Amino acid sequence: MEETNLSKTITLRPFRLSDADDLITYGGDEQVTRVLRGWKTLTTRDEALTFIKDVCIPHPWRRSICMDDRSIGFVSMYPGSGNDSYRADMGYAIAAKYWGQGITTKAVKMALSQVFKDYPDLVRLQSFVDVENKACQRVLEKAGFQREGVLRKYLYFKGSIKDMVVYSFLSTD
Ligand SMILES: CC(C)(COP(=O)(O)OP(=O)(O)OC[C@H]1O[C@@H](n2cnc3c(N)ncnc32)[C@H](O)[C@@H]1OP(=O)(O)O)[C@@H](O)C(=O)NCCC(=O)NCCS
Repeated sequence: MEETNLSKTITLRPFRLSDADDLITYGGDEQVTRVLRGWKTLTTRDEALTFIKDVCIPHPWRRSICMDDRSIGFVSMYPGSGNDSYRADMGYAIAAKYWGQGITTKAVKMALSQVFKDYPDLVRLQSFVDVENKACQRVLEKAGFQREGVLRKYLYFKGSIKDMVVYSFLSTD
């Protein structure tokens, strides 16, 4: 692992409209967006601005992963409502030039310590990952999530029905 970038300041903060240009570097990259539900690949600065304004800022819990305060990715947590408010789904991505440096694992660990404070009733964080997305699974494992099993033919996504691995992290973990 390269230590240079990991030793830079990695922080989480809400998105700002001024993140539009930085968002394009990963939200405009098909390598990143092709596995993300609810994201279409951004092609213009205006699309990035609209996405920040309409999706990222109103999101219940979406944080920009920042290096020296510039957005290089995101981590999101989406809580259930009503009787399901004890559990939430987590997702994340980071710009391709930073892959493999441990940054997302660090960001997910930071998110874990924050979301259980922000949502005191939260008991279970979960993530459903395509069986083929090994990097995503590895991040969850390194962050302390438990692999619970495979849901066969569970998710219809972009033309095929995927087997999904389920991971969880409990407030007591
Ligand atoms: C998944 C993603 C967030 C990982 O980010 P990252 O910052 O590279 O993650 P980290 O460096 O913290 O850890 C990645 C781990 O996956 C491993 N990995 C990467 N590609 C792999 C592969 N094809 N097979 C097995 N392991 C792999 C790395 O070796 C590393 O593990 P290690 O530290 O034990 O060596 C990033 O690749 C990404 O944004 N991908 C596109 C969006 C996405 O898939 N989001 C997740 C949807 S659930």
